[in-house]
Amino acid sequence: MEKIIDENKQGETLVVEQKEGNKRKLFIESYGCAMNFSDSEIVASIMANQGFNTTQKLEEADLVLVNTCSIRDKAEQTVRKRLQKYNAVKRDHNPKMKVGVLGCMAERLKTKFLEEEKIVDLVVGPDAYKDLPNLLAEVDEGRDAINVILSKEETYGDISPVRLNSNGVTAFVSITRGCDNMCTFCVVPFTRGRERSRDPQSIIEEVNDLWNRGYKDITLLGQNVDSYLWYGGGLKKDFEKASPIQKATSVNFSKLLQLCAKAQPKMRIRFSTSNPQDLTLDVVETMAKYNNICNHIHLPVQSGSNRILKEMNRLHTREEYMGLIDNIRRIIPNCAISQDIIVGFPTETEADFQDTVSLMAYVKYNFGYMYKYSERPGTMAGRNMKDDVPEETKKRRLQDIVDLQRIHSEIKTKEWLGKTVEVLIEKQSKKSDAQWSGRTPQSIVCVFPKGIYEVGDFVNVKVTDCTSATLIGEAVGLSPS
Ligand code: 5AD
Ligand code: SF4
Repeated sequence: MEKIIDENKQGETLVVEQKEGNKRKLFIESYGCAMNFSDSEIVASIMANQGFNTTQKLEEADLVLVNTCSIRDKAEQTVRKRLQKYNAVKRDHNPKMKVGVLGCMAERLKTKFLEEEKIVDLVVGPDAYKDLPNLLAEVDEGRDAINVILSKEETYGDISPVRLNSNGVTAFVSITRGCDNMCTFCVVPFTRGRERSRDPQSIIEEVNDLWNRGYKDITLLGQNVDSYLWYGGGLKKDFEKASPIQKATSVNFSKLLQLCAKAQPKMRIRFSTSNPQDLTLDVVETMAKYNNICNHIHLPVQSGSNRILKEMNRLHTREEYMGLIDNIRRIIPNCAISQDIIVGFPTETEADFQDTVSLMAYVKYNFGYMYKYSERPGTMAGRNMKDDVPEETKKRRLQDIVDLQRIHSEIKTKEWLGKTVEVLIEKQSKKSDAQWSGRTPQSIVCVFPKGIYEVGDFVNVKVTDCTSATLIGEAVGLSPS
């Protein structure tokens, strides 16, 4: 399951290089996970070839595209509100404006979107972006257009995304699409389709290209990266039918990590998201072997109760998960581990919830993302289980674990006090223009006085203080690596 991107990046508008001669203006904004933000770059690339340059002003847009998320009801409501805003802008300032919906909500709601939201002219699912030029031609002729077909093959491996409003230092590289793990709460298998992997050659080419353009830190992206498997194309579930040669030359995630780490030994390599039942020790050992693979694993657990894990169709137990954590810490003692947890899944009792609390106490995650269960139409839980945990109880449980996580994060950041960490400078600190902000290999944010350093420098920083989420320090010099 893909990590939801930072709260303050939600709704960010993408700006890309202006292509000379392009006359029309595209306003494109993204919600949800990193995969959506990465897909919007692919869409901007496609649209640049259709005569569109990006704009950040809704009032002047010929076309507005919103890349949407369906993961929780709240995410969908946010998009509905944005549609109202576009409606008002179209009515008051920009009658020529056309509006398209991309991503998971497009896939989930399909033609319902055109019926329910009069403002929408175009509905395009996550595998249909290459069809945008045709769909756009329909819209230009005054017809609504829709393509929500999920593909067995589409990975967009042949489209090089444009990245301009990034910090020029960190980038996402998508490696798999779709998900075959049918967690009962999750809408993703319905909106993103079956799992398929991208050709390693095109991944390495993108990594090399990013390095040549100055990027220093990439995150390999997928709903379930550990399940990456390239055997010449095709769905993961059809691997059994592959020929002996295809099987013998197949590339799994651990091999892909090695290929990336070796192709650019100075590039920091990260990945997200891992699934406990698919993360093999092979991957952890590869992480330990290559210095440039960052020591951080985002390992959602969702619940600490075996009964709830079973109801969620998570294919591991609490004990297996704890065993995996022990193994990770044995192989990489300073590996950061982060979580996603859901509280208030149907039938969750106080005892089940306490199992989640005790699991957190066992692991002591560095950080995490916690949510109240939100029933999603069409999912197994949505169809078969009553959303029976009262809202008040969900709220209280969520607050309890958010507070507990803060305590654990603080314990974890304090472990770095007095140590020297390598920080890649990403941007100016939000709190002070005299400070840089970057991350350690463990994905912990670190701020320190700017001194002589620049964005994109690897700097050794001595940690002198910390908050629960941030290390505070002094630069001691450029890192030799
Ligand atoms: N309700 C609440 N949270 C959900 N997530 C996924 N589906 C739901 C849902 N129906 C959470 C999971 C996942 C993260 C990206 O979003 O914790 O790992
Ligand atoms: Fe990403 Fe879709 Fe999941 Fe939202 S529902 S987090 S957009 S994959």
